[in-house]
Amino acid sequence: MTWKTIDDMALAGKVVLTRVDINVPMEGAQVTDATRIEKIVPTVEDLIARGAKVVLLAHFGRPKGKTLPEMSLRLVLPALEAALGRSVTFMEHPSREAINALPQTAVVLAENMRFSPLEEANDPQMAADLAALGDYFCNDAFSAAHRAHASTEGVARLLPSFAGRLMAEELAALEAALGKPERPVVAVVGGAKVSTKLDLLGNLVSKVDHLVIGGGMANTFLVAQGIEVGKSLAERDMAPTALEIIAKAKAAGCTIHLPIDVVVAREFKAGADNQTMATADCPSDAMILDAGPQTVAALRQVFEGCKTLIWNGPLGAFEIEPFNAATNAAAQAAAELTRAGKLVSVAGGGDTVAALNQAGAAADFTFISTAGGAFLEWMEGKTLPGVAALE
Ligand code: 3PG
Ligand code: MG
Repeated sequence: MTWKTIDDMALAGKVVLTRVDINVPMEGAQVTDATRIEKIVPTVEDLIARGAKVVLLAHFGRPKGKTLPEMSLRLVLPALEAALGRSVTFMEHPSREAINALPQTAVVLAENMRFSPLEEANDPQMAADLAALGDYFCNDAFSAAHRAHASTEGVARLLPSFAGRLMAEELAALEAALGKPERPVVAVVGGAKVSTKLDLLGNLVSKVDHLVIGGGMANTFLVAQGIEVGKSLAERDMAPTALEIIAKAKAAGCTIHLPIDVVVAREFKAGADNQTMATADCPSDAMILDAGPQTVAALRQVFEGCKTLIWNGPLGAFEIEPFNAATNAAAQAAAELTRAGKLVSVAGGGDTVAALNQAGAAADFTFISTAGGAFLEWMEGKTLPGVAALE
């Protein structure tokens, strides 16, 4: 895949429509995690430095084609201005005249693209109306690239287009992890359900050398192999599918790693009374809430034998203590090997990044994607429409 970047463009005196993802979590008027906003600053600054007038296009929440004040991008404006260190002109209904009337160094933020029902429909007229606002289209929203919407895909087909800095960085990191990685490669996939990650597991077993399965998903694989897991979360009807994945992995030379030992409890709550035991010993009235220390030690060894690691999903019920222990310890092992220059580590997905932050490991990872759904779809081997439109 090839696409143009900012370096390929002559942008002086031009208007550059720039799709960004500033869909940030908020509590009241406060942005609780500004990472996505901070990550677009290099692109905006670079465009301005090259003489472009920047018009930011973005979505916020899922208003489903309605104008909802609680999903107005006005709410994000103060955090955006703070991150950029500049004032930003907000336009509810942007027009070319209004944009032209602003000084060349101006930055514009257009209202939530999803206030129009035409956005998610990838309506050609909406794409044409957007295209008429600028001379070039820059996509810096990797985390929204799995959506074929008017402001991500449609407009890219109508204007000369290129990738922003963050988009280019995300694509390079993912290519390094799964495209042409240094081998051996280990993928860690956790989370509750096999059914939501089927495509992911199917694609990974043909691409990676080691697949570590954690969280509730691991229980489904254990059950499929005749190991009883008591009251643990498990999708018993997915057992045949799990066996197919195991067979596919075997044929592809991918080793699957399941928990050797587990931490079990009788209730799903923080601080619940718990025991550590061999996986096969889970009592019929208990549930597995985390992997045990022997599993973590085994994972560390797998990581030590690998050059590349890609991570999506926690190994246990990381949101309640002490069932975050395996996720934390494995994340710290990956961070340590990365710091020592022995491992390239890439992680993505909302929960995953929260878990790695909690473990204090995120900063040491080679790359943390800003994407949730787009990261997953990319790991599944799917084409991302927003990226494809740049090619
Ligand atoms: C995200 O938050 O994952 C992106 O902004 C995409 O949002 P969406 O899932 O509502 O399309
Ligand atoms: Mg999402």
